[in-house]
Amino acid sequence: QGNPTICVIAGDDSAPEVVLPTVEILRHLAPGLDFRPALSGREAQERYGETFPAETRAAIDSADCTLFGASGGPSRPILWYLRWGKETYVNIRPVRWFPGYNSPMRNPERIDYVIVRDNLEGMYPPREGNLAELAALPSSTGWWQAPPVEKVGAYSVRLCTDEQMRRVAVAACELAVQRQAQGYPGRVTLGAKYSIQPRTDGRFREIVRAAVSEYAGLTYQEFLIDDLARRLVAVPETLDVVVLNNEHGDILADAASGTIGGLGLSPSACYGEGYAYFEPVHGSAPDLAGKNVVNPTAMLLSGALMLDYFGYAEQAQALRDAVARVYREGAVLPVDQGGQASTTTFVEAVSTHL
Ligand code: NAD
Ligand code: IPM
Ligand code: MN
Repeated sequence: QGNPTICVIAGDDSAPEVVLPTVEILRHLAPGLDFRPALSGREAQERYGETFPAETRAAIDSADCTLFGASGGPSRPILWYLRWGKETYVNIRPVRWFPGYNSPMRNPERIDYVIVRDNLEGMYPPREGNLAELAALPSSTGWWQAPPVEKVGAYSVRLCTDEQMRRVAVAACELAVQRQAQGYPGRVTLGAKYSIQPRTDGRFREIVRAAVSEYAGLTYQEFLIDDLARRLVAVPETLDVVVLNNEHGDILADAASGTIGGLGLSPSACYGEGYAYFEPVHGSAPDLAGKNVVNPTAMLLSGALMLDYFGYAEQAQALRDAVARVYREGAVLPVDQGGQASTTTFVEAVSTHL
């Protein structure tokens, strides 16, 4: 079948500053991988006259996966394509503290769980309308009356298809089983607003419950999303695999990142049936662009998830170990972790441990 091919899309603002050194590290670790850079954002605009040229789309399509920096606006259509075009339906966001991470928590060593996020539905497919249209829709709880027609405003929609909720739930269960083999408790936790949105989040809850019940070895717990937000700060050690809808997953992934020490540290992976793409949880950090201070850890660890995806388990672990060692030793820390190391210096320190 040949070597895995990876489309590399650097993205906007400070994103290229973490993507390019990550590719260098990955090339060194796994020489068999075939990296193919494709233009995005402003660069694509200058070369092809559009921010998402057909060439970039073809590069995404012809690769086995994409490594993506982040979009700060110009590369946004590419992000949409990677999610909805390639149907990468589930987003995996590991939340794990390593010694040396600058966590604001008292006992951060307890933090080691994974957020499994719906990557396609919920409030993300933009279906918005004005209040007059809303008046025609039935209320799902009965007590709510649409505002009188003379009121002006807007509403938005949450989409939940059974098929999508089911495959996100199954992905969470499969991950919990996989982790259980490594000593984790095999516990799936649902967070949702089933109390207020019985037809969507309530249905999601039923589907997740049913999925977990098909796995004899797994246990299940559920919390309203606001209580879960507290739990990931107060009792993170009770979490193993946390399954969330799209918008809850977006918000709580950043909150969870804050508990381990910040967005510079949080990787992510988006999987579909025959495609995957890898990007950090963070955005394009425009405030840091051009300063060589952005923390590449989240991108490097996203690269490790990519290595795992292709079965390069040893190389993935070597990369994680090298990153962990730099933090443990503590001599070379990025600025967001209380150190003074530039992006370049940090990546060099990781390289020396490989
Ligand atoms: P952001 O994640 O870019 O930045 C939030 C804060 O975290 C900033 O203070 C930033 O400096 C800091 N930060 C982020 N990454 C860091 C890193 N690697 N090292 C050190 N500090 C880091 O979020 P934002 O400022 O709300 O959004 C900026 C742009 O990014 C927006 O256009 C947003 O839509 C976009 N965004 C894109 C993605 C994506 O493409 N997947 C994800 C999130 C946000
Ligand atoms: C993320 C980002 C995206 C999201 C934005 C850029 C659309 O915040 O990947 O977490 O909301 O999903
Ligand atoms: Mn986000």
